[in-house]
Amino acid sequence: MSTRPTASAPPAKGKPVTLSALAEKKALGEPIAMVTAYDFPSAQVAEEAGVDVVLVGDSGAMTVLGYPSTVPVSVEEMLMLSAAVRRGLQTPMLVGDLPFGSYEVSDEQAVATAQRFVKEAGCDAVKLERGGTSVARAKAIVGAGIPVMGHVGLTPQTATALGGYRSQGRTAERALEVAHDALALQEAGCFAIVFEAIPSDLTAELMPRLEVPVIGIGAGPDTDGQVLVFHDLLGIYDGHAARFVKRYADVRKSMIEGVAAYAEDVRARRYPEPRHGYTMAPDERERLRELLRARIPSTPATFLPPA
Ligand code: KIV
Repeated sequence: MSTRPTASAPPAKGKPVTLSALAEKKALGEPIAMVTAYDFPSAQVAEEAGVDVVLVGDSGAMTVLGYPSTVPVSVEEMLMLSAAVRRGLQTPMLVGDLPFGSYEVSDEQAVATAQRFVKEAGCDAVKLERGGTSVARAKAIVGAGIPVMGHVGLTPQTATALGGYRSQGRTAERALEVAHDALALQEAGCFAIVFEAIPSDLTAELMPRLEVPVIGIGAGPDTDGQVLVFHDLLGIYDGHAARFVKRYADVRKSMIEGVAAYAEDVRARRYPEPRHGYTMAPDERERLRELLRARIPSTPATFLPPA
């Protein structure tokens, strides 16, 4: 039976979550709560809810920008989303996701992109996907003084090469590759690693071999923390939901109901009501009438252009 504590407290409000705070949580066996956010209001929600880490995931390409995958999103778009999240966040650590094509070419490209996320968007750290060449990129970024979170297993930026959006590491050989990727990213200096869509059994085998916090999404209960996409967990996004998604609300339904009720009220002239308007003092209204009579002709027809 596990001797780990079953719960952990939210971070102290306003005191930014640090790398050492996350390492300490792992050491104490206290679960780390991470969520994605893509704009000012979702950042404020994450702040108020007391999560430890907020990721401006490139999943925002699909959830808020409407792209068919994470691949097309640009650095500029990710920077805009990240900067908006920064403005709504004080306590959780803010991690920006380096988009596809923005770090793979060279260490120089990776460092330059990571620096933009820190300088222009105020991110505390960046995340990149895969092992392989990404290991050297992670090392270069860490060497430039920017904390890096790794990401192994299902890596959506290269989903096509992985055979689609499907769980990874289900054969012993492929599981070993995931293990090598995770260990190499740790060796490169990553402060944490995301495990996405891998068998819980594989996670259980790897956890004793990793010193840095592991954040799972579809990787079972044994990771040091969990991450879910904001729109998935709140039921905002209408697309396909992966097996690992647990819905905690049906916000999309509430939003549709709200907007439909508004449109119905407008059409039925139930909105706006007198209390939603501004008033004018009676004497000002009277003066206005006089001014209008004197200066602006009263029939709308006067304003029609000449035939
Ligand atoms: O982009 C994203 O939201 C992610 C998480 C699923 C980890 O990478």
